Amino acid sequence: MSKIFVDACFRKETPYTPVWMMRQAGRYLPEYMEVRAKAGNFLNLCHNPEMAAEVTIQPLDIVGVDAAILFSDILVIPNEMGMHLEFIKGEGPVFKDPLKSQEELDNLLGGEEAANKLTYVYETIKLLKQQLPEDKALIGFTGAPWTLATYMIEGQGTKTYNVCKKMMYSNPELLHNILRKVTDVVKFYMEKQIQAGADVVQIFDSWAAAIEPGKYDEFSWKYMVEIAEFIKEKYPHIPVIMFPKGVAAFIERGLVYGNFDVFGVDWGTPMALAKEKLGDRYVLQGNMEPTRLYSKERTTECVEAIQNIMQGEGHIFNLGHGILPDVPVENAIHFVKECQRVSKK
Ligand code: CP3
Repeated sequence: MSKIFVDACFRKETPYTPVWMMRQAGRYLPEYMEVRAKAGNFLNLCHNPEMAAEVTIQPLDIVGVDAAILFSDILVIPNEMGMHLEFIKGEGPVFKDPLKSQEELDNLLGGEEAANKLTYVYETIKLLKQQLPEDKALIGFTGAPWTLATYMIEGQGTKTYNVCKKMMYSNPELLHNILRKVTDVVKFYMEKQIQAGADVVQIFDSWAAAIEPGKYDEFSWKYMVEIAEFIKEKYPHIPVIMFPKGVAAFIERGLVYGNFDVFGVDWGTPMALAKEKLGDRYVLQGNMEPTRLYSKERTTECVEAIQNIMQGEGHIFNLGHGILPDVPVENAIHFVKECQRVSKK
């Protein structure tokens, strides 16, 4: 049976434009909060394949999205490389010993050895393959090397990125060595997710906007493209989605290149601009401003506007970044129904 989401990634004819939401499994769903409470905390939930599979499926049943995204986190990668990850209430993710030197980098696990430690992720994918309806795709994912490196170097989320930017401009060699090591782990990680059963993979570069446009290729995009091209060469039937957040200037200057299938458009980039610059080469995913979900009227207005631009061709509906925890579930359901309604052929 064909999967509407995979078909859309390859620009094949579909009965309507499929839709999913970044961060669709999460705190806005009371059912998620229940499972997380049972698990004890977020990381325990990521480490428990049965529970992780259960929350992965929740948005399909409750919200009606057309694809499932594996429940995990991008930061399990540096955790398994040997950096100790904690989630501190009110502060988000924390690495107590951020990476400062080549010596510390050399002490981290790399390559396949690090990827092999993520067995709980592959187990979750295998369970999901048994549990998901045949027509629903399962999206695997990774963080882009740059976004992962920001947490490894800063030790936590940051507004200024001053520690990693100091490294970028005063010791670029060390930053490149970090990015190289992470890239090599991610290639194995993506391959193992695909071998376990992921139908599609997405690379999240959530903090792309921290890099000046003229340096974005050197410090992030080229590593993402290397990962994408590694996947496309070995697994051409697996669609690859790139999501660099906040890169309108990079798009506008015509700097996007690489062998992948879908470009995720963030909410700060006008869909018409993305279509003009990228629409003939890549299927576009996105891009409603996620806080429009607070209002059903503003949601419908935006879904219709996006549909008017994309006309159901080479398009996947999504938000332009993740759904926030205080969005009413019924508004998320409304968004999904509206995307399916306006694009029905
Ligand atoms: O539904 C899905 O999209 C799948 C699961 C998923 C999570 N994190 C679950 C999660 C995915 C794809 C991610 C990716 C992720 N994690 C990114 C890239 C995507 C993006 O949103 O830009 C980033 C930057 C992270 C790092 C991360 N993880 C942060 C900054 C936080 C804390 C943020 C917050 O809202 O507290 C997390 C925790 C996290 N990851 C939660 C979930 C559901 C919240 C944990 C909880 O309290 O239950």
